[in-house]
Amino acid sequence: MTQAEKNAGKEELAALAQEIAHHDGAYHANDAPEITDAEYDALRQRFRALEARFPDLVDAASPARRVGAAPAGGFAKLRHRTPMLSLDNAFGAAEFAEFLARARRFLGLPADADLPMVGEPKIDGLSISLTYEAGRLLQAATRGDGAEGEDVTANIRTIAAIPQLLAGPHPDFIEIRGEVFMTKADFLALNAAQEAAGQRLFANPRNAAAGSLRQLDVRITAARALSMFAYAMGEASGPVANSHSGYLDRLRDWGFQVNGLSRPLADAAEAEAFQARMGLERARLGYDIDGVVYKVEDLALQRRLGFVGRAPRWAIAWKFPAEQAVTVLKDIRIQVGRTGALTPVAELEPVNVGGVLVARATLHNEDEIARKDFRIGDTVRLQRAGDVIPQIVAVLSELRPAGSAPYVFPEICPACGSLAARPPGEVVRRCTGGLICPAQLVERLIHFVSRPAFDIDGLGDKSIREFFDLGWLRSPADIFRLPAREADISAMEGWGKLSASNLSRAIEERRRIALHRFIYALGIRRIGTSNARLLARHYGSFKAWRAQMLAGAATIGSDERLALGSILGIGLAIAEELVEFFVEPRNVATLDELSALLVIEDATATDAAKSSPVSGKILVFTGSLETMSRPEARALAETLGAKVTDTVSRKTDLVVLGADAGSKAKRAAELGVATATEAEWRQLAGLE
Ligand code: IVH
Repeated sequence: MTQAEKNAGKEELAALAQEIAHHDGAYHANDAPEITDAEYDALRQRFRALEARFPDLVDAASPARRVGAAPAGGFAKLRHRTPMLSLDNAFGAAEFAEFLARARRFLGLPADADLPMVGEPKIDGLSISLTYEAGRLLQAATRGDGAEGEDVTANIRTIAAIPQLLAGPHPDFIEIRGEVFMTKADFLALNAAQEAAGQRLFANPRNAAAGSLRQLDVRITAARALSMFAYAMGEASGPVANSHSGYLDRLRDWGFQVNGLSRPLADAAEAEAFQARMGLERARLGYDIDGVVYKVEDLALQRRLGFVGRAPRWAIAWKFPAEQAVTVLKDIRIQVGRTGALTPVAELEPVNVGGVLVARATLHNEDEIARKDFRIGDTVRLQRAGDVIPQIVAVLSELRPAGSAPYVFPEICPACGSLAARPPGEVVRRCTGGLICPAQLVERLIHFVSRPAFDIDGLGDKSIREFFDLGWLRSPADIFRLPAREADISAMEGWGKLSASNLSRAIEERRRIALHRFIYALGIRRIGTSNARLLARHYGSFKAWRAQMLAGAATIGSDERLALGSILGIGLAIAEELVEFFVEPRNVATLDELSALLVIEDATATDAAKSSPVSGKILVFTGSLETMSRPEARALAETLGAKVTDTVSRKTDLVVLGADAGSKAKRAAELGVATATEAEWRQLAGLE
């Protein structure tokens, strides 16, 4: 290469770095990209190609290599040098044998040839890619879509189990992959602290780990107990090892935590024995595992085997079956929700399901109880599949006590005694007590201060109930009158001067609120976080929204009302709910009382992107849905980051059951795949 070529390369790299930094700013910080994603990717690709051509011009600090600090709207994106792939799953010995046979066939080996493997626990956390240059931790990215993840470097630096510097000899450049996780004990302690502080609880250790790592304020990450097991390699500038176990040894030498349960395995019989042993060990481990990953030991063979689609041919995840346990259904409690919906909840004799103590399970609705004939006193089998709420899968009818009677669903509200009506064709029975029902009032207040709404620190369900019982809270506006009672609050049991003054401060801080949060907080039926955002974006300001809604409520068939129905994704049923809210003078009075106490910010384009519980999940819709068409449900699920398929398999995460769901519901039950009712789906989708 001539000096002139090198100079030209240097100039182009510098110009590209500037250009990339400019577009990063436009995209991340200002949310106003000036070029398409494809054009941006082309710039990055050209940049990488030049770096590969002129390795000594590589500048680790170049803004184009390390997208700067996390911008207000979220994390910066980092592209992985080698894509982060997923693993194919096996659910039994036959599928595992098929994996081995495939690998042997691909390598042209006889069917009985030796193919040594390593078995490693499959850690249920979130995968991370760490880049080290000259032995120094340079950057860390989440998996993201596999090609591009989020830049969580600053957060990763707070984890003690991750070395900042590699100990001992190492290649100049190396990508190391592993799983960030939280132990079961730390998860329980974190949830206890969250509950005490009136903060949202995490569903499982994996969500807790992901939520703790992906914090824009790294001080929060630093305060959480996170750990990591290293288990795989991305790109490396030099040789590291010849075998996977040799590679794990190197990782240990460099200072990483490597799972001590990993074992070399000579053949399928040893793997089967290992799988069985891990299945038993699982509940005793301090962290969640959901299977065992088997990897071909010889790295040269791994290279030859390569990848198919998004998964390697040299590894497979043999998953454990869903965890089940048997316990007694002690009682059926009826919860009254914010909109009056009566939801049956099973109170169970507490039982350990795979290391998590379960005392409650959803019974979905009245029809489900009748269909399955759940009775108080029954012995039931329940199941926890991934992060889904425990479900009762069967009644062990041979253990049913003599004299038990079918459950009779109440027709009056257990909280206020009003009639609980079930309109024809609907599955949900609702309390008709409206604002006189204390349960609905309390639930509305709890909803009002919840995380996606006003997000008031220190004001948990328990405190809301206490303040409600004292008569201090009747309407949402009363929350902003609590600081005036600070002295009384500090004298209450469980409170002190500091916690009471913190509460006052947290409330005062929320006098300024984004429009979409405000709309969501009102708890209007069918206005979940997604619809609240749509409305906020559409109307822009509180004033405009209020005026248009009132105009819509005043005249049936008015332009405003029709316009409402045609906002993308809102639909007429939701327009009707909004109208219903605004025709009630007491609701408008509450709204006006609140707006006098608050500064409601206009909607901007940079409202944080929503993160959805179904993102990354595989969903199947079956039967007919009442509130939306199937194509609509599919489109919504896809916008929320889920994949929708037509057939139920073991890979399916959730089957949403509409009315008259037939063979797919049966198949889901056979495979132990989690199911949800339409109402539960609406909640997951943020519509309620
Ligand atoms: S190896 C090329 N080993 O499982 C694939 N993955 O379902 C490299 N995981 O995305 C992955 N424990 O997040 C590997 N011992 C282990 C693992 C493991 C957990 C996760 C990882 C991966 C997912 C695939």
